[in-house]
Amino acid sequence: MSSIKKVAIIGTGVIGAGWVIRCLAHNKIVYAFDKDINLKKNLILEIKRTWPFVKNLFNKKKLNLKNFHFFTSIEQTLKEADFIQECATENYSLKTKLMSTIGKYAKSNSIISSSSSGLLPTRIYSKCKNPERGIIGHPFNPVYLLPAVEIVPGKRTTRKNLNLARKFYKSISMNPIMVKNELPGYLSDRLQEALWREGLHIINEGYATTEELDRAIEDGPGLRWSLMGTFLTFHLAGGKAGMKHMLEQFGPALKLPWTKLKAPKLSKKLSSRLISGTRNQAKGKSVAKISNIRDQYLVEIQKLRKKYEKKLR
Ligand SMILES: NC(=O)c1ccc[n+]([C@@H]2O[C@H](COP(=O)([O-])OP(=O)(O)OC[C@H]3O[C@@H](n4cnc5c(N)ncnc54)[C@H](O)[C@@H]3O)[C@@H](O)[C@H]2O)c1
Repeated sequence: MSSIKKVAIIGTGVIGAGWVIRCLAHNKIVYAFDKDINLKKNLILEIKRTWPFVKNLFNKKKLNLKNFHFFTSIEQTLKEADFIQECATENYSLKTKLMSTIGKYAKSNSIISSSSSGLLPTRIYSKCKNPERGIIGHPFNPVYLLPAVEIVPGKRTTRKNLNLARKFYKSISMNPIMVKNELPGYLSDRLQEALWREGLHIINEGYATTEELDRAIEDGPGLRWSLMGTFLTFHLAGGKAGMKHMLEQFGPALKLPWTKLKAPKLSKKLSSRLISGTRNQAKGKSVAKISNIRDQYLVEIQKLRKKYEKKLR
């Protein structure tokens, strides 16, 4: 079990708020900071909006807001924290500078983790005085409900600190994926990005709308993906002989021009197709309203998934 109790969250936008909520639900003491001090109000509203879902998923009784502290100084936020989760805007120079500041004020034995979606930790921690304690802990939105977190080491991160981070994430009901060595985009975002880039080409060339492409995932591969990933799914697609027959039958398609992968230019035309397409899909519902529907669904599907996961793994 992890002995880490005190957690600092730096940056409280979408992802930082998610970490705050997950940590509070697991009785951690949370110190939060954002350069925009007006975010404290939004954060409390988000904690309250999400609590019914979090409470249901983790079987919790009571929300203890006494464990939540929002500071206006980064120094004060870091003073007592044993684990620091950085969640500022995705940008190399911003994060590198921020990690240098964090290194200056963090306790000498605290673990420092970045929520980055794909930046290399060695570069992010290059100006931090404690790179051996620096990792990536890449979560998925909504962090308060989804269990995945990719732990990525930098060149100087020690095994001991990777293990401490793994134990900490497990103590907040996450399933850490230990990535062997740093690589741009890590694992999951490389896969997501490939799908996203192909989708942008299809929309750019006018073959489908955002809604049609979403339905192509939601009604087919998406339903399977919450239980099993691409490889096990394709093993079943090969019939009795499994992956061997799948490769014999579909291997030749690898030579056909099915994918482009290199992203198209994010032109004005493409951006407006994406913005108006998703606005139509929302059908006048606010982001908060759609988030509530998604959150309720994620709680119920995870309960169902647990039952079936046990049979598979
Ligand atoms: N949104 C996602 O789906 C998602 C998923 C996984 C990981 N991430 C990663 O999480 C991080 C945050 O993304 P987000 O979506 O929450 O962004 P966001 O724009 O919602 O929030 C970023 C927050 O960081 C704050 N900030 C910027 N500079 C700061 C500084 N120097 N000190 C303190 N606060 C600062 C901003 O005020 C803002 O509130 C990024 O690294 C992103 O790649 C995002």
